Amino acid sequence: MSSALLQSAGISEDELERRREKLLADLTLDEKLGLCAGKGLWQSAGIKRLGLRPLGMTDGPHGIAYHSSFKRATRFPAEIALAATWNTELVHELGKAVGDEARCVGKQVVLGPGVNICRTPLNGRTFEYFTEDPYLNSRLAVAVINGIQSQGVAACIKHFAANNQETRRMSVDVQVSERALREIYLPAFEAAVKEAKVQTIMACYNKVNGDQGCENDYLLNQVLRGEWGFSGLVLSDWFAARNTRNTASAVSGGLDLEMPGLAAKRLRRKDLQKALAQDEINEQQIDNKVRALLDTMLLTGCDQPPVKKQSPDPEKYKSLARQIATESMVLLKNVNQQLPLNVDAIKSIAIVGKHAKHRFTGPLKGGSSGVWPRYEVTPFEALTTLSKGQFEIINDAAKADVAIVFVGLGHKAGQDCEHYDRKTLSLPPEQEQLIIDTAAANANTVVVLINGSPLAMENWIDSASAILEAWYGGQEAGNAVVDLLFGLANPCGKLPVTFPKKIEDCSAHKSEKTFPGDDQVFYEEELMVGYRHFDNENIEPLFPFGFGLSYSEFNYSELQLSATEFVEGEELEISFTLTNSSERAGVEIVQLYIGEQQPRLVRPVKELKGFQRVELAAKESRQVRFSIDAGKLAFYDDGAKQWCCDVGKYHLYIGGSCRDIGLNAAVHFAG
Ligand code: BGC
Repeated sequence: MSSALLQSAGISEDELERRREKLLADLTLDEKLGLCAGKGLWQSAGIKRLGLRPLGMTDGPHGIAYHSSFKRATRFPAEIALAATWNTELVHELGKAVGDEARCVGKQVVLGPGVNICRTPLNGRTFEYFTEDPYLNSRLAVAVINGIQSQGVAACIKHFAANNQETRRMSVDVQVSERALREIYLPAFEAAVKEAKVQTIMACYNKVNGDQGCENDYLLNQVLRGEWGFSGLVLSDWFAARNTRNTASAVSGGLDLEMPGLAAKRLRRKDLQKALAQDEINEQQIDNKVRALLDTMLLTGCDQPPVKKQSPDPEKYKSLARQIATESMVLLKNVNQQLPLNVDAIKSIAIVGKHAKHRFTGPLKGGSSGVWPRYEVTPFEALTTLSKGQFEIINDAAKADVAIVFVGLGHKAGQDCEHYDRKTLSLPPEQEQLIIDTAAANANTVVVLINGSPLAMENWIDSASAILEAWYGGQEAGNAVVDLLFGLANPCGKLPVTFPKKIEDCSAHKSEKTFPGDDQVFYEEELMVGYRHFDNENIEPLFPFGFGLSYSEFNYSELQLSATEFVEGEELEISFTLTNSSERAGVEIVQLYIGEQQPRLVRPVKELKGFQRVELAAKESRQVRFSIDAGKLAFYDDGAKQWCCDVGKYHLYIGGSCRDIGLNAAVHFAG
C-alpha cells in the first residue's frame, strides 16, 4: 500500500481496508461493473449514491498538461532534463510541485513518470523518459513518485513495459529475453512499486513476448502483483485495451480500468455482463479490480467534498523551474574556456538561429506532455534583459565579439514528438549549415542545443568553441541558459544517455529486425543498451553516459576500501577524496560503476551502482563515501529464474562519467 499516499490521506492501512470493504459490500454488481471502464476522456466513473466522486486524471510528467486539465500550469524541463540533474532531492521537489498543482486543478492522478528505457536515441519520446540506465531510472522514479504522492495525489508510472519506440507502438510485439527485462526494462517499475509504493501503473500499447500490455499475464499478474506485491490500480494506456483479444483475456490478463471511457471496448458494463454470463470471468475478479480503484479513490479524497478547482499560481514554482533547468543543462564542450562569457569584456553578441526565439511550450506540444505555462522566457528574451546597458545584440556574426547559435529540434513529427520516431540522428541540414557558416564568420562561436534526444555532431562539432545542451528547459529555459553562459551559475548537469557518433554505433540499430522491426521487434542486444554496449564493443561515443563539464575542475584521489573481501550480509565501505582544484565553487556528480571480472553469464563491463551530487567551494576537498552490499553485484540468472551474486572478483570504477574513471580497485566477493 502506498505509504506517502496513506500518510497524506491520514489513515492507517487497516482503516483503509475497512472503508474499502464497506464500500465494496454496499455496491451492487451492476455498479461494480460500471466502474471498470472510465467516463469520458480523463476520469473514471464514480458512484454518486455513495458519495464517491470519479478519479480525475491529468497527463504529466513535467507539469500538468493543458489538454487534460484546461488550466495553465508550471512547465518544468522535460524528463530527460530532469534526469540530467542527477539530483534526486530536486526531482522530489518537482514531484511535490506537480502533485500540488494537480490537486489545485482538481485531479487525483498524475499520468507519469514515464520510465521506459532509452533503447534507441531515435525514439520520438526519448525526451519524455529519463535515461538508458536502470539504476539512475529507478532512483529518479522513486524520487518523483514520492513527491507526487506526498501531496495526496496518485502517480501513474508508465508505460509498463518495454514501450521503447513509437513506430507501430500500438501493435509491435517486443521480443525480449527475461534477463533483459529484469535487468534493464523493469527495475524502475519494480523500485516504484516496492520502494515508492506507486498507486497506479499504466499498461502499454505494445505487446511483450506475444501478449499485449493490457492482457499480459506474465507482466501484470505474475511479476507486478505476484512477485512485487502491487495492490494498486492497473489502467490501460489510452485506447490500448481495444487491442486486447477479448474481454475475458483483458480481465484475466490483469487490467483493472480501461481508459478512456470514451470508446472503451472491453471493460464496459455490457462486455463484463456478457463475459460473466458465459462464465469466462467471475465476480471475484471484478471485486479485486474494484478494490484497487476504491483504494485509489479513498487515498486521493474522492470520498470527500470537492475543493474548488483553481489555476496554479504562476509565481509559486518559478524559482524551482529555473533551478531545475539550470542544473539540467550539460556543458559538452568548452575550448580554451570560451565560457563563461565575461559580460564586462563583451561589446556585442550575435544571436543566431530561430531556436533563440522559439516557444517550445503550449498545449499538446510534444503530445501527452504538452503543458501550457503562463509565460515562457526564451533565450533571446533573457539575453535582451541581460544586455541592457552592457552589450549590444546584433545580427551579423562577423562583426560581433561572440556569436551564439541556437539550434536543435522541436516537438514536431519526426523530431521529439509522441507518435513518431526520429528518422535521423542529425540536426536538420540547414541548422548544421548555420553553425558552420556562423563559425566561419566568428571564431568565438557558442552552440546552444535545444532538443530532447541525442544528436550526431560530426559535421560541425569542430567549428564550435563551446556547446551547451539545454534540452527543453520549460518556462524558465531562457534564464537558465543565460545564467550558465555568463557564469551566474556553474554547469553541473551530466548526460543520462550516451551521445553516439553515428546511429550505426547503437546496439538497437543492427538491422531492420532490431529497429524498428515489423510485426515484431527483436531486442537482440539483450543487456547491452546504451553505455553497456559502447563499453562491451569498445566503441568511442561522441559523449559518454554521465559526461558533463563544469567551470570548476575536480580531482579524485585517495581511494580507500574498508576491506578487499566481503561476504553476503556485509557492507563494503568505499571512500575517496574529491577536490575542487579551481577558484570557483561547483558541483560534481560522482559515479560508481561495478563490473564482474569473469562472469559466468555474459555481463556488461560495468554498470552504474551509485552516484552522489557533491557541492564544493573553491579549492575545497571532501571525503566522499559509498557503501555497497552483495545486492549491488547481482545479475538475473534466467536459468535459475532468480537474482544471483556469484563469488568472484569485481572491479569498482569511480569517476565523473562512464569513460572518465578517476579511481578504480578490485574486491573479492566471497559468497
Ligand atoms: C500516451 C500516454 C498518455 C495518454 C493520455 C497516450 O497516448 O501514450 O503517455 O498518458 O495518452 O494522454
